Amino acid sequence: MEQQTNLPSMHEARKRKKGEVEHLQYEIPNHLKGLGAQKSYFIKTYGCQGNIADSEKIAGIMENLGYSEAPNEEASDVLFFNTCAIRDHAEKRVFGELGRLKGLKANNPHRLIALCGCMPQEESTIETVQKKYDQVDIVFGTHNIARLPQLLEKAYQKKERIFEVLSFEGQIIEDIPLKRGHNQKAWVDIMYGCDEFCTYCIVPYTRGTERSRYPEDIIREVTELQEQGYLEVTLLGQNVNAYGKDFTDRKYGFSDLLSDLQKTNIPRIRFTTSHPRDLDLRTMEVMAQGKNIMPHLHLPVQSGSNAILKRMNRKYTHEEYAEKIKMLRNLIPNIAITTDIIVGFPQETDEDFEATLELVRECQFEGAYTFIFSPRQGTPAANFADDIPDIVKKARLLKLNELINEGFARGNHRFEGETVEVLVEGVSEKKTRLLNGYTPHNKLVNFEGPEELIGSMVLVKIEKAYTWHLRGTLVK
Ligand code: 5AD
Ligand code: SF4
Repeated sequence: MEQQTNLPSMHEARKRKKGEVEHLQYEIPNHLKGLGAQKSYFIKTYGCQGNIADSEKIAGIMENLGYSEAPNEEASDVLFFNTCAIRDHAEKRVFGELGRLKGLKANNPHRLIALCGCMPQEESTIETVQKKYDQVDIVFGTHNIARLPQLLEKAYQKKERIFEVLSFEGQIIEDIPLKRGHNQKAWVDIMYGCDEFCTYCIVPYTRGTERSRYPEDIIREVTELQEQGYLEVTLLGQNVNAYGKDFTDRKYGFSDLLSDLQKTNIPRIRFTTSHPRDLDLRTMEVMAQGKNIMPHLHLPVQSGSNAILKRMNRKYTHEEYAEKIKMLRNLIPNIAITTDIIVGFPQETDEDFEATLELVRECQFEGAYTFIFSPRQGTPAANFADDIPDIVKKARLLKLNELINEGFARGNHRFEGETVEVLVEGVSEKKTRLLNGYTPHNKLVNFEGPEELIGSMVLVKIEKAYTWHLRGTLVK
């Protein structure tokens, strides 16, 4: 692979060059294979499942290079910050942590500190790190994880700071080694990037153009996971419903992929994130066939006001969204639906906010991630006049959360008295030492049982529903 050292340009990142996706195979140069002998690494991951999946790749590459995982950040020879840029809060946390590391670096000057993930894709981050954080040795972005061996080699040889962030990358690299974080549940990337350009969102700039993995590679990965004993896969993409739109050699979309994966023996399939405009009837029909596709859909709506949706560039209306939910419930009566909502978008009026509350009541969500709008430099909405006082934004969030929590509780109560299948994940940290796991509808269940059950699927009778979890007894 050609070496390219440059800095991000959000202007470049906006350019979309369709049909240029290269599908490549990961290779580690032979001379770098022992680079990490006697050395260790530690990864701190922030943000979404996409970053968790990327950290599994970073860990896989590091182990392939001979590094071992350190028990904590202090003990590590290479410390990674895999960062998130979606809201200002996430970035502030990382800068706070980096500041604290100055001392840690003084203790061990040979330690390398690497900043990666979405923050380096922003020009402002690079400037700040160059000026204020000279304890950071390597900066790389979301497009060049596969070049980590070469970046480490350069950092060791040159003893100078390495900045390598690519702005536009139409590549998919298969077979990057993975060190998965879980023994039963696996993340499976199906596509990268996003072409939606919602006006508030930094993701299209940090993650690049939409590009899909070939179905045969995904099906092979899921089949292998099932053969290794995995019980659940979550298919990942910023907009999974746009899967396959970039293929030039075939017509194959998300519903085809779901349908093909339905034929594998993996017991549970989930996917995230869906876009309401692109979610089509055919996908709903495949979901309705059930089998191993779990009856839960996360469908971010963002707002219930048509004026705000328009300014967000979401490309659907309140009514169209509600109609899709209706269609889904007709096809899959029991489905659990969750969402994401932003309050305090520039110029959101009381009436706009009321329309959001109305939509929440109409759609009967059983959970939501709710946020106050956070302006992201370089996105259109960051330049929209924002005249809403903070106190009003906070009050709206509080009011919305109350309504969402009611839905959460209602969604849980409908399972009282039912017997449900639970994938047992672990033991609760509280004194009670109850086992916990998730149902097909993605409800958290606590119950008494022996620890040997961890990692298996069991039946649990639900005795009582609480707002955030269900309490049940193991069915013998
Ligand atoms: N401000 C607040 N929330 C945001 N999200 C994305 N960008 C922003 C922003 N600038 C939220 C959206 C998205 C979720 C992952 O994060 O609700 O669905
Ligand atoms: Fe961001 Fe919109 Fe893409 Fe989701 S669909 S990642 S909110 S631009």
